[in-house]
Amino acid sequence: MTTASADAAAKFDLTIEQYLEFAKGTGDAMKACLAADPEIVMAQVLRGYFFHLMGQAHLLERAGKSHASAEMAADIQGVTARERCHVAALGAWCAGNLAAAGRLWEAILIEAPRDLLALKLAHFAHFYLGELADHRDSPARVMPAWDESVPGYGYVLGMRAFGLEEAGDYGAAEVFGRQAVELNGRDIWAVHAVAHVMEMQGRHREGLAWVDLHAGAWGPNAHNFQYHLWWHKGLYHLEMGQHDAVMDLYDTRFRADQSDDYLDISNAAAMLMRLELRGVAGGERWRELAEKAARHIRDHILPFADAHYMLCLAGARGTETAGEMLASMRQWATQETGTMAPIMRDVGIPLGEVIQAWGAGNHGRVVEKLMPIRYDLVRIGGSHAQRDIFSQMLIVAALRGRQYAIARGLLAERVAAKPASAQAWTWYAEALKGTGDAAGAARADSEAALRT
Ligand SMILES: [Fe+2]
Repeated sequence: MTTASADAAAKFDLTIEQYLEFAKGTGDAMKACLAADPEIVMAQVLRGYFFHLMGQAHLLERAGKSHASAEMAADIQGVTARERCHVAALGAWCAGNLAAAGRLWEAILIEAPRDLLALKLAHFAHFYLGELADHRDSPARVMPAWDESVPGYGYVLGMRAFGLEEAGDYGAAEVFGRQAVELNGRDIWAVHAVAHVMEMQGRHREGLAWVDLHAGAWGPNAHNFQYHLWWHKGLYHLEMGQHDAVMDLYDTRFRADQSDDYLDISNAAAMLMRLELRGVAGGERWRELAEKAARHIRDHILPFADAHYMLCLAGARGTETAGEMLASMRQWATQETGTMAPIMRDVGIPLGEVIQAWGAGNHGRVVEKLMPIRYDLVRIGGSHAQRDIFSQMLIVAALRGRQYAIARGLLAERVAAKPASAQAWTWYAEALKGTGDAAGAARADSEAALRT
């Protein structure tokens, strides 16, 4: 790395470590690095990356300025090819081409498999572009360059774990995840990967204990990503039918600070909607979310975030604002040429229409619009556990719209994938009853009773 200051280099390393730990001090560490050497190219690039990672439209201009200053400093200093590649990746991201940025980070990793920053950003890009194979394989490709003697090894294991989990290899994911947590108990991403394994395998009681066990280690030093772990704890309670416990976590943990962050809003909206699907009203909580979402209806940074802003508006029955947001999505998709434009056109907009129909109580339209795109939703990114809200919405829309044969098929799928889910069996019983299969419904009801 090019810098005249050993102190700045040390502070850059500290910033990366803080970033990977989701530590609150990440921004301050970066500022200290820039104070030690204002010309350091990699910290300027990092500042631009961070502005993008925050997922807020009003920060994009500052990301662009960081890119311009990094490019200028790189020209003056004659930096390394790797640093130039990072500058180019930031430039691609600023141009709306996250996929191209992802390819540049992967290119860096071919030559420099220990570039943790490139690895983490490639992990982010693959995650939000639904590139499941790359998400799984990217950390595997660099593993030969890592072992316990290399600082940061645990973070690689944690990314490997999460990539495997999203690819459905739960056994291997848990082994790598637990190994990472043993090396560093504050590695909240690795804790999170194992939490996902427990969610997908229906190990709800174990999941509750897992989150509680590790919450102490990240403690007050972790930034808002910790809310996502509390959200996962809420999912376990939800599957166990403990709705009061979910609401308590909502109010005291993952929505306590009512932030404007897209992930925090996504956690909250997706959980309130899950509760609504189970007949539990979110009440005034929806209004708070809809007010935050209304600030972002023209952002269009991530189709994943857009879908969750739409959920906020639908939950609060904010029909007019939802219509404005959809209109903005349509206009944006016709003007943009970057990575997200086709995703928005093919999946983001149809999904937005589904959510709008849900808000209007039009269950028939939800089923009609969601069935053809359900297997394409992976393209908006996020995890299987996060996107499951849309599978649940489809099922409940089919049930409420009395399309019982469709619901029966969807629920046969669901109980096969999630046999430990009492709710899945209860919904299945309702669908079977609706199709006139009383004996099948009784069997499904008894399966549900066994799991509550
Ligand atoms: Fe998660």
